[in-house]
Amino acid sequence: MRLDRILANSGYGSRSTVRSLIRSGRISVAGQTVRDPGLAVQDEAMDRIVLDGQPITVRRYIHLMLYKPAGLVTALTDPRLPTIADLIPDAFNNSGLVPVGRLDRDATGLLLLTNDGTLNHRLASPRWGIWKSYRLTYLGDTFHEDLCCLFAAGLLLPNGERCLPAILGLRGNHEADLQIHEGKFHQVKRMVAAVGREVQTLHRYALGPLVLDPQLCAGQSRLLTDKEAAAMYRSVQLQPP
Ligand code: URA
Repeated sequence: MRLDRILANSGYGSRSTVRSLIRSGRISVAGQTVRDPGLAVQDEAMDRIVLDGQPITVRRYIHLMLYKPAGLVTALTDPRLPTIADLIPDAFNNSGLVPVGRLDRDATGLLLLTNDGTLNHRLASPRWGIWKSYRLTYLGDTFHEDLCCLFAAGLLLPNGERCLPAILGLRGNHEADLQIHEGKFHQVKRMVAAVGREVQTLHRYALGPLVLDPQLCAGQSRLLTDKEAAAMYRSVQLQPP
């Protein structure tokens, strides 16, 4: 992998910042000062990259937990609307982060961004059975216990599509939790509409074993801890790198 990419991926600054860092001679690889940002670093030299005399912590992959606020589109570019790209810290702007699945513009909560394509694909695919957990408020008649059985059996949507079994948890006060393990377009809203109610607010609080950090405010993000990242890999039967 290119040296500038390794440093940018590892959170040492934007691509241009790390390029000037390298050109200024502050980096050495396997004991040699390097001034070429494009130097291809072999796997065996990855743990021998040093900045100002201190070994750097190489991150092969970046996984960012973002608390998506309402009003942003889950996309990296959009011709008209503000996107979640505005919330990615500068240091990771060139890291190739891609959101895992999407949240509607008016939905809030946990969005995971990763530059590991295999992990992303598996987390999003219904094949790997990852639970997506939502808290919602709704308009209409109060949910009753019978609905839990209906959701658990696999709800039939008006267009004939059958949902995979889902877990509905009643909370009272027109609030409920819904866990699904697929990601059809507007799925939660369509499931709730199929039983004659309307989603008023929708918030994702967990994705598989990953729970939205209660310390984050809307719009903030942080890297996954090694433990969280390892749990995500294991949840889709991948060996953590
Ligand atoms: N289901 C929805 O309807 N919207 C979302 O944003 C996520 C799941």
